[in-house]
Amino acid sequence: MISKDTIDQVLMRNDIVSLIGSYVSLKRAGSNLKGLCPFHSEKSPSFTVYPADNSFYCFGCGAGGDAITFIRKRENLDYPDAVEFLANRAGITVVRDEFNNKYTSTPKFDRAKMLKMNVDAGKYFHRCLFDDTPEAKAALDYFVNHRKLSLATIKHFGLGYAPNSFDAFSKYMLSRGYTYEELVAGFLCGKSERGTYYDAFRNRVMFPIIDVSGNLIAFGGRVMDDSKPKYKNSSDTPVFKKSRNLFALNFARLSGEESLILCEGYMDVIALHSAGFTNAVATLGTAITSEQARMMSRYAKKVIICYDADEAGQKAAMRAIKMLSDVGLDVTILKIPGAKDPDEYIKLNGPERFKKLIEGSKSKFDYNMENILSRYDISVPQEKIKALHELEKLISETYSSAERDIYIHIVSDTLSVDAKSIKSDVDRIVNATIKKRRREESSKIKQDAIGYSDKVNPDYIKAPAVARNEEHVLGLLLLYPEYRKSAFEQKMLSESDFLTDLNRRFFLYLKEAYARGDESLAGMNEKFSEDELGRIMRMKVARMGLTNTEGALDDAVRALQNSVRKKNSQSTSTFDDLNKLLSLKRQN
Ligand code: GTP
Ligand code: MN
Repeated sequence: MISKDTIDQVLMRNDIVSLIGSYVSLKRAGSNLKGLCPFHSEKSPSFTVYPADNSFYCFGCGAGGDAITFIRKRENLDYPDAVEFLANRAGITVVRDEFNNKYTSTPKFDRAKMLKMNVDAGKYFHRCLFDDTPEAKAALDYFVNHRKLSLATIKHFGLGYAPNSFDAFSKYMLSRGYTYEELVAGFLCGKSERGTYYDAFRNRVMFPIIDVSGNLIAFGGRVMDDSKPKYKNSSDTPVFKKSRNLFALNFARLSGEESLILCEGYMDVIALHSAGFTNAVATLGTAITSEQARMMSRYAKKVIICYDADEAGQKAAMRAIKMLSDVGLDVTILKIPGAKDPDEYIKLNGPERFKKLIEGSKSKFDYNMENILSRYDISVPQEKIKALHELEKLISETYSSAERDIYIHIVSDTLSVDAKSIKSDVDRIVNATIKKRRREESSKIKQDAIGYSDKVNPDYIKAPAVARNEEHVLGLLLLYPEYRKSAFEQKMLSESDFLTDLNRRFFLYLKEAYARGDESLAGMNEKFSEDELGRIMRMKVARMGLTNTEGALDDAVRALQNSVRKKNSQSTSTFDDLNKLLSLKRQN
C-alpha cells in the first residue's frame, strides 16, 4: 500500500501535460490537448489530454486514466513501480509498506537495481572477450576476423563474450551482491526443475541492448558456429519489453539523418554503423510492432527498409511497410542484389555501393509493381490481364487520388492500356472498399453498443440496457463530484442496483472513497486494471459537455433502479425461481 498522501503528491507534482508531452507531441484543442496515441497506431489524433482533471483518454483504442495509468502502460510498469517512477521524476521519496511488499504474490524488483545489474553483467561479458584463454581468443577472433569488426566498433557497441560455463558468470554476480532471484528475473540465469541455477548465456558472443535513455535493458547472444539456436535473446523482464525497443536507436537517433534504416539483424546494424550508416536500427528478433513504428516516427520522417533478401525477409518487409506508413512515415524498400543481407553486401561491395542502393530504394508502389511484373509474361494477353488486375488493386490501396492518377499513367504506359479504362477499374475497387469499410465500421459500432463480446466488462452483454444506465450514472458521478453526496445519501443508490461486475466494483469504490472524504480518487490505479481504467475514463468523457446534468443524473438513477427491478422480476427459468425462493428462505 502506498499512502493516499503520497499518491496525491505524486499526481500533483507531475503535471500531466508536460508528462505526456515528453512522450507524445500534443497540440492544443480548446481547453484540452490532442496528439497521436502512443498505444495504437493512428494517423489522425484521437488521443486527448484533459488538463482540468489531469486525465487522458484515447477515442481510438479506449486507453485512459491518470498520470499513473499512463506510466503503467507506457513504461510497462506495475502500479507501485509506476508511482515510484513518477515520484523520482518529481523528486519525492516514496516509502513502501514493507509488510505488503513482502507478501505480494509477484516478487518486487527494484528497477534501478536491475538496470545496474545489467551494466555489471555487460561489463563482465565485455571483459571476458579479452581474457587470455583459448575460448575468449576464439570469440574475439570471431568478431575481428570472421565478422570483420574493428576493436573500435566492438567497444562502441560494448560487445562481449559469455564464457562456456554454467556458473562462472553467476558466481561473479553473486560476489557483487546480486541474488539468484534477481538474476533469474533479469533473464541472466535460468532455474532447472531440480531447483539449481545456471547461467543463461554460455559460449556466446554478446550484444547488449540499450534503450533510448541509455539504459542497458537486455542481451542477445549468438553462437559462433552453425549450431542452433543461433541467437538467444532476453525475454521480457521488468525493465525490458521487446516490442517497445529497437537495437541501436540510442545511436541512430543522434545520427543527424532524417531517415532511419531498418534491418533485421544485430550484425547488419553493426556493419552499417561501422561503415558510416549510423542511422541503422533493428527489431529485437521479432516482427515490427506498431509501438516500434511509432517510436521511429518520433525520430525520423522516413524509413528505409533493408531486410534480408530471402523470401521470409521480403514478406516481413511487406508487413513493415504497412506498420510504418500507418504512423505517417515515408517508407522505401531496398532490395539487396547478390547478397543475403546488408552486412554481407557491404563486406562484398563497400559503403559507396550501399549508398547507391539506398538512393535507389523504391517506394511501396514501385517495389510492388516490379514484383508483380516479374511474375507475369506480359506479352501473353491472359497474363497481361492478370498483371493489370493486380496492379489496379495495388493502385487502389493508395489513399491520395492524385497519387493514384500518377500510378495509373505509369501502368498505362508500361502495359499500353488506355488510362481511362484503368481509372474506371480503380475507382470501382476504391468505392467497393470504402463501402465495405463503412459496413464494417457501423457493425463494429453496433457491436460496441450492445456490448457484444466485451472483454473489459464481460457482464455488459447480459444486460446491455442496464449496463448503459450504470455507465451513465457512474460517468456523471465521476465527472461531477458535487453530485456524490445526494447520490449516496439521498437517492439511496446501492450496489444491488448494479448488475455488471466492473460497474458494481467501481460504484463501491466511489462510495467508499466518498465515505473516506477522498474526492480525488487517487488510488484508482491500485484497484483497477489498465483496461478497466480506460473504460472508466470512457464513461466520464462520453458525458462531458452534457447540459442539465443534475436532471440527467436523476433520470439515470431512476431508470437504473427501474431496469434492475424489472430484470429481477423477470423469471427466466424454473431454476432461477427456485434459487430465488431458496435464497429468500435462507434470509428469513
Ligand atoms: P548473422 O547470421 O550473423 O548475419 O546474424 P543476424 O544478426 O544478421 O541475424 P539474422 O538475420 O539471422 O536474424 C535476425 C535477427 O533475428 C537476429 O539479430 C536475432 O535478433 C533474431 N534471431 C535470429 N535467429 C534467432 C534464433 O535462433 N532465436 C532467436 N530468439 N532469435 C533469433
Ligand atoms: Mn544476417
